[in-house]
Amino acid sequence: MKKRVPVIAGNWKMFKTRDDALSFIYQVNTKVPAKEKVETILFVSPIYLRTLVKRQEDDLRLGAQNMHFAEEGAYTGEVSANQLTNIGTTHILIGHSERRQYFAETDETVNLKIKTAHKHGLIPTVCVGESLEIREAGKTNEVVKVQIVKAFDGISKEDALKTIVAYEPIWAIGTGRTATPQDANDTIKSIRADLAELYGQKVADQIRILYGGSVNPKNIKDLLAESDIDGALVGGASLDPQSYLQLVEAANNK
Ligand code: PGA
Repeated sequence: MKKRVPVIAGNWKMFKTRDDALSFIYQVNTKVPAKEKVETILFVSPIYLRTLVKRQEDDLRLGAQNMHFAEEGAYTGEVSANQLTNIGTTHILIGHSERRQYFAETDETVNLKIKTAHKHGLIPTVCVGESLEIREAGKTNEVVKVQIVKAFDGISKEDALKTIVAYEPIWAIGTGRTATPQDANDTIKSIRADLAELYGQKVADQIRILYGGSVNPKNIKDLLAESDIDGALVGGASLDPQSYLQLVEAANNK
């Protein structure tokens, strides 16, 4: 089996000014490993994406945190895939639980956005994950499977291979509470089995599945030591350049 290249993706959410972002990128740009060893992606605010894209070195990837699925239209406040690629954006985060929770993102819109992303050559990172209630009811795998099946509905094998999945239990996001590496790995294995049902084992074995939720430089090693965790989607601990580089370094040693 071909080794899956680990991914360390930072999700800056609604943090950082343009000045903060520039300072970060100057500190990190030349220090990240070759993209064949670790894929480093930063999901940033769209207002300074262009500024960062202009200064990005080849091994650091940049993406937006959301976009609309429509080509264009009367959607005040939204950003299209075409607008993103036009300024050099290569990656897009889709279906983050905060988008699902606060901005009415649904499994259906997630699916439409994945299709739009692939149509425009944007690499999507698609988030799935369960609430604490679901976890405690023992229904995590079932619920996450529905999210996966709906997200990938109508997505070809070729496009599935280009898609990155992020498993983020909602109760672990920004709470300091991480899933144990074993629990995270079990759910990620179950997601891989879901993908195998859809696309066959060979394809499923090549799709990168990340863990997200209170990942930091202290817990990253144990998470990455698990068989099926291919990297991390990181919020809080991706805001500081040194902390981000430590996460990347851990992945480089995976
Ligand atoms: P956190 O956020 O690392 O701050 O928990 C993760 C995420 O929301 O992607």
